Amino acid sequence: MCGIVGAVAQREVSGILLEGLRRLEYRGYDSAGMAIIAPNGKIENRKRVGKVEKLSEELTSSPLLGRVGIAHTRWATHGQPSEENAHPHISGDIALVHNGIIENHEELRQRLKELGYQFNSQTDTETIVHLLHYYYQEQQDLMAALKKTIGDLQGAYGLAVIHAAEPEKIICARKGSPLVIGIGIGENFIASDQLALRQVTDRFVYLEEGDIAEISPDNYTILNAEFNAVTRDITQIDSAAESVDKGHYRHYMLKEIYEQPSVIRRSLAGRLGSKNILIEAMGSRAGQILKDISSVQIVACGTSYHAGMVAKYWIEGLAGVPCRVEVASEFRYRKFKVQDNTLFVTISQSGETADTLAALRLAKTLGYSASLTVCNVAQSSLVRESDLYLMTEAGPEIGVASTKAFTTQLVALLFLTVALGRHHDMTENEEKDIVKALNALPDLLSETLELNLNIKKMSNAFAEKHHALFLGRGAQWPVAMEGALKLKEISYIHAESYPAGELKHGPLALVDADMPVIAVAPNDELLEKLKSNLEEVQARGGQLFVFCDKAAGFKTAKGMDIIELPHVDDVIAPIIYTIPLQLLSYHVAILKGTDVDQPRNLAKSVTVE
Ligand code: G6P
Repeated sequence: MCGIVGAVAQREVSGILLEGLRRLEYRGYDSAGMAIIAPNGKIENRKRVGKVEKLSEELTSSPLLGRVGIAHTRWATHGQPSEENAHPHISGDIALVHNGIIENHEELRQRLKELGYQFNSQTDTETIVHLLHYYYQEQQDLMAALKKTIGDLQGAYGLAVIHAAEPEKIICARKGSPLVIGIGIGENFIASDQLALRQVTDRFVYLEEGDIAEISPDNYTILNAEFNAVTRDITQIDSAAESVDKGHYRHYMLKEIYEQPSVIRRSLAGRLGSKNILIEAMGSRAGQILKDISSVQIVACGTSYHAGMVAKYWIEGLAGVPCRVEVASEFRYRKFKVQDNTLFVTISQSGETADTLAALRLAKTLGYSASLTVCNVAQSSLVRESDLYLMTEAGPEIGVASTKAFTTQLVALLFLTVALGRHHDMTENEEKDIVKALNALPDLLSETLELNLNIKKMSNAFAEKHHALFLGRGAQWPVAMEGALKLKEISYIHAESYPAGELKHGPLALVDADMPVIAVAPNDELLEKLKSNLEEVQARGGQLFVFCDKAAGFKTAKGMDIIELPHVDDVIAPIIYTIPLQLLSYHVAILKGTDVDQPRNLAKSVTVE
């Protein structure tokens, strides 16, 4: 987390940096700061606690002038959000911004104190800038000082540095946290994500693990981890494909919920034949690799983990391939047996989540047959480091609570299921039925979105509640998990999810008139069992909110509100039933008055452990 942006130009850069920070705010928003080499040759900086807008106000009353600068938006890890802890951190004539965690910061802090350095913050980052200052005395060259400094660092960093004595450049380094160089004409840039720089360039160079780089107005040079000069490819990004404004929507989240029919249509394009799925769309090696796979291990975090949970039902139930799913932060720290011919699958919107990336790197040492990532960002680390990738084509997702990324992940995972099923239990007819269901999906999603007003009405019942319970069975259980996550993320109502059959083993004790119970009830083979579970709730005076198939036979009654969804094929039901739960959370959050797009304490891209 945390967002970095830097610019070296022949014009004023504070406006460019500020706009970059606004676009990076999804990475963290508890404080922001900027440092610039001023016309008098000195480093000047401004910092404010709170969102980037606070820094913007500060810069209006107290502008920063200069053509070289760095800026940062923070998500606190070491030390609370405060001006002292906000970046840039300064040591003498050096200013630095950092994304990541320095694990040996306590030992470095001690060493630097003994050398006479005074610390002004509680951050791990401040150790880096003092180390740079220390080595600069010895080397009298910023790049040489950086090489020495990173030799002392343990942990993860994406960092950018300026020095008043070398005023025409920014030096940066990447290990464990993403960094991209933006190439302009007579000006160059650096950022944690290309999105930050799209207002100034569409040409980017992605730094790789261990790279360090120097950028000046007319040039950039990159050294690899061995400090040898390297050339990295330039990627041109198609500006038309990605819009990052809210349009006429009040929040990014609502816009992104409503984009689902169109982004899913886009993600299906070129991947569906009339009766089958075009596996070639997964890359030329996909057929060859997948045919030998006999089991799947999925690893992911947050919403992406829930997509993996749905996929487990599909991969085992439809393809007949054993599948395990685990959250990345657990997977990476436990011992287990790797079965032969296992495909290692990561799922991630950003492609930069630290735990997921670490799990992939670990998996590569453990004997998995191949790796595949389901990801939304083509230039991300996960895509670059996996053998195969399936892009979700959701476009930029700005709202911290994931919506369209989740449903497009599900579509991609259904592709994977079929690709695996072809070599296992899936018949041609079954594949044809899935293709038919996928073709119908965009229109069914639009139809489901028309329920918005009914859901908004239903949300009133949640405004005063403190807890909620989400129930589902089979592949709808992870949908219920995702519904509970959405509600807690953006409305701060405590929400839990259970497979409905587990109700009687504990959570039933919580059910009373103050505990709304939300159930997802498509007309599938588990419907009758789910109905019995819901009767257990009604019998205890619980208030039920049921999203069900028209033909499921539920009726609105005392203690039971229902919203009927269009009839859908079982296989795509998890995608359709996600929509009302997203809308419900959104409307409850509006009633609660929370910050929907940037809920407290969270960040969209978690590039620290
Ligand atoms: C954060 C975000 C979640 C997201 C999770 C995994 O917690 O707030 O919305 O699901 O990270 O992110 P990824 O980019 O790997 O899908």
